[in-house]
Amino acid sequence: MATDYLWIEGIPFHTTTIRDLRSLQNEFVVRDEDVITLSYPKSGTNWIKEIINLIHTRGDPSWVQSVVSWERSPWVETPEGLELIKKQKDPRSYASHLPMHLFPKSLFTSKAKIIYIMRNPRDVIISGYHFHKTLKITKNPNSFEEYFEWFLRGNVPYGSWFDHIGGWLQMRGKDNFLLISYEELHQDLRASVEKVSQFLGTKLSSEELDSVLKNVTFQAMKDNKMSNFSLLSDIYMDHRKACFLRKGIAGDWKNQLTVAQSEAFDKVYQEKMAGLPPGLFPWE
Ligand code: A3P
Repeated sequence: MATDYLWIEGIPFHTTTIRDLRSLQNEFVVRDEDVITLSYPKSGTNWIKEIINLIHTRGDPSWVQSVVSWERSPWVETPEGLELIKKQKDPRSYASHLPMHLFPKSLFTSKAKIIYIMRNPRDVIISGYHFHKTLKITKNPNSFEEYFEWFLRGNVPYGSWFDHIGGWLQMRGKDNFLLISYEELHQDLRASVEKVSQFLGTKLSSEELDSVLKNVTFQAMKDNKMSNFSLLSDIYMDHRKACFLRKGIAGDWKNQLTVAQSEAFDKVYQEKMAGLPPGLFPWE
């Protein structure tokens, strides 16, 4: 079942990625009305997408309960996702894990609303390990130790976490860029949903907000087959090996990383993040 990565511009990708990313970069036209979710994989992308989708329907769950999540907010870097985006009506909603330097260039002159979700990279490693051992469209790690090494070197799908975040954070401060974290969603989901709806220009009534909150809990998403990835074809994922909605907690790394791994991680983190201002990340 295991396959190798698809390498594009020196970065490993899933085999389902559009091979000609340069053409996508030059030709895809981002519209001012677009709402784009960006993230490094395993950062809570599907959680924030669900929130965005439910804000769009003002808390009405019928859409998220009848259409699979990858069709509600398709991936711009896959051929199937791109076709779906082309058929969407404004305001379009789509997602991407692409690093900033490979994203369609028209974004940077548009007023599209960008939501970048980030997560403690230590938890991203744990979540990524469990997810990537189930995927049939990528190289599978033989052990956690192996995956940990790959992650530190950026030899995992979409490349280095440090490069990804360092790239996209250059957008912070722009009016059309909202930075949010997985940890923030956990700490105060209500305030986070209000922040996102305000950014999107949607004023929700308290009933609508309550309905969004009710439908985006870990359990609600785990029970919703349109959001829990159980309908993703076996061609892509071996469902026997792990669930997409696995634990859904912050700080799981403390139970999983050895002291030596934690120290090795901190060393790389300090080197790579040295240029960024303190206080930017809730996990620090
Ligand atoms: P874990 O593997 O740690 O459980 P992404 O969508 O970027 O691939 O991120 C997946 C991670 O987000 C998984 O983390 C998943 O469980 C978590 N997640 C998804 N929906 C969630 C929710 N409603 N509440 C908490 N965590 C959620």
